[in-house]
Amino acid sequence: MIQAPKGTFDVLPEDAARRELLEEHARKILGAAGYRRIETPTFEATELFERGVGEATDIVRKEMYTFDDGGGRSLTLRPEGTAPICRAYIEHGMHKLPQPVKFWYLGSYYRAEAPQRGRYRQFWQVGAETIGSATPETDAELIVLLADLLEALGVNRTRLALSSLGTPETRAEYRSELVTYLRAHESMLSEEIRTRIDLNPLRAFDATDPGTREVMLGAPKLLDRLAAADAEHLAAVRALLDDAGVEYELDPTLVRGLDYYTRTVFEFSSDALGAQSGVGGGGRYDRLIEQLDGPPTPASGWAAGIERILLAAGEQPLAAELVDLFVALAKPEGARVAFELSREARRAGLHAQQELGSRSLKGQLRHADRIGARYVAIVDDGTSAASGLVSLRNMESGEQRDTAPDNVIPTILRGTGL
Ligand code: HAM
Repeated sequence: MIQAPKGTFDVLPEDAARRELLEEHARKILGAAGYRRIETPTFEATELFERGVGEATDIVRKEMYTFDDGGGRSLTLRPEGTAPICRAYIEHGMHKLPQPVKFWYLGSYYRAEAPQRGRYRQFWQVGAETIGSATPETDAELIVLLADLLEALGVNRTRLALSSLGTPETRAEYRSELVTYLRAHESMLSEEIRTRIDLNPLRAFDATDPGTREVMLGAPKLLDRLAAADAEHLAAVRALLDDAGVEYELDPTLVRGLDYYTRTVFEFSSDALGAQSGVGGGGRYDRLIEQLDGPPTPASGWAAGIERILLAAGEQPLAAELVDLFVALAKPEGARVAFELSREARRAGLHAQQELGSRSLKGQLRHADRIGARYVAIVDDGTSAASGLVSLRNMESGEQRDTAPDNVIPTILRGTGL
C-alpha cells in the first residue's frame, strides 16, 4: 500500500477548516496593518539559500531537498520564505516603491528533519516581512502583530524570548572570543559541539548535555558586547513592547537557525508543545538584500509554523460551518425541483445542499440535523411542487409549514416567519 512520505501528512477536510480560520485571522490582523499578500515559488535556485540562509547552518548543510532540474541547474524546495521574498523584492525593483514594503505569506516549506510531533518534512508557515525600514518601531510592530495573531488563535501558554545579535562585525569579534573560551574548556564539551567549535560556536548555547551546559553558564554573552547603536535599538524595541504590554524575557542565548539576522531576534514558544516548542520567530536582517546583490536595504520579519500553532491552540471549538438550507426529497420525482431550489438558494448567497444519496426521508432529516442545517425544504413530487407547495421546516424550533417554492429563499433570508 502506498502511503504519504515520511514526515508529511494529509490535510483532511476537518483539518482544513481550522487552517482556513487561521488564514482568515492572519489576513485580518496583518491586512489591517498594511501587509499585503505575496507568494513565491515552492522551489528556487539552490544558491539563493546557500547565500541567504548561510552555508554553515543546519538547514543548508543537511536539511535541504535539492535536485537537478534536468538542465544542469540545481534547484531546492524552499526551506524558508525570507530569502525568496528578498529575491522577489530585488527582482521586481521594489526598492522604487514607497518604503517600507510590507508582505505577508502563507505556504508550505520543506526541511529534511527527523520527524516528530510538531516537526515535519513538509510544513506550513504564515509569515510577515517589512522591507525598507530600519526603525525599532518596525520590529516592535512585527512582534506585536505575531502576539495578536497567536492570541486571536487561542495559542496557549506562550513565552516571548527577545535578544539582539548586533552587527556582523560585532558578532565576528564576539565569535572569536567565544571560540577561545570554548577551546579553553574543550574537554567538558560534547563531541558534537567540540567538532563544530569553529563552524558554529554559537550552537553551543543550544546544547543539552550537562557538560556543555555548565561551560556555557560562564561563557561570554554577545548582549554584553553590543555596539552603542545596537544596544540603543534593542532598548527602543523593549520600551515599545513594554508600552504595548507585551511581556518578554531577555534571552542572551537566543540563537536562531539562520545566518541572516542582525540586531533584533525573537521567538515565541509554547509550553503546550513538547520538545518542538518554537511556535514562531524572526528578527531583523539588515544585510540580506545586499548580500543577494540588491541595494542596501534594512528589513525585519517573522514566520510561524501553522501545525505548531494548531497544536498549541488545542481543540479550539470552531465556528461551525453554516448550512442554511438542506433540500430533502419526499419522493424521487421531486429531484428536478430540489436541484433548482438549491441552486437558486446558493445564487441568493445561502449555503445550500441537496440530497445526493437515496436515503429515506427520515434518513435525510437525520443527515440535515447532523450537518447543522438551519432549514430543511422537503420537496414532495414534481406534481405538488407544480401545484405550488414544499414543506419548509425550521430545524431549531421544529416548526414546519407548506409554502410556495418561491417563498423558501425569502423566508430564510428574512429569518422570520417560521
Ligand atoms: P524558523 O524559526 O526557521 O524561521 O521557522 C519559523 C517557524 O516555522 C518555527 O518557529 C516553527 O514553528 C516552524 N517550523 C520550522 N521548521 C519546522 C518543521 N520542520 N516542522 C514544522 N514546523 C516547523 C524562519 O523560517 C525565518 N524565515 C523566519 C523569519 C522571517 N525571519 C525573518 N523573517
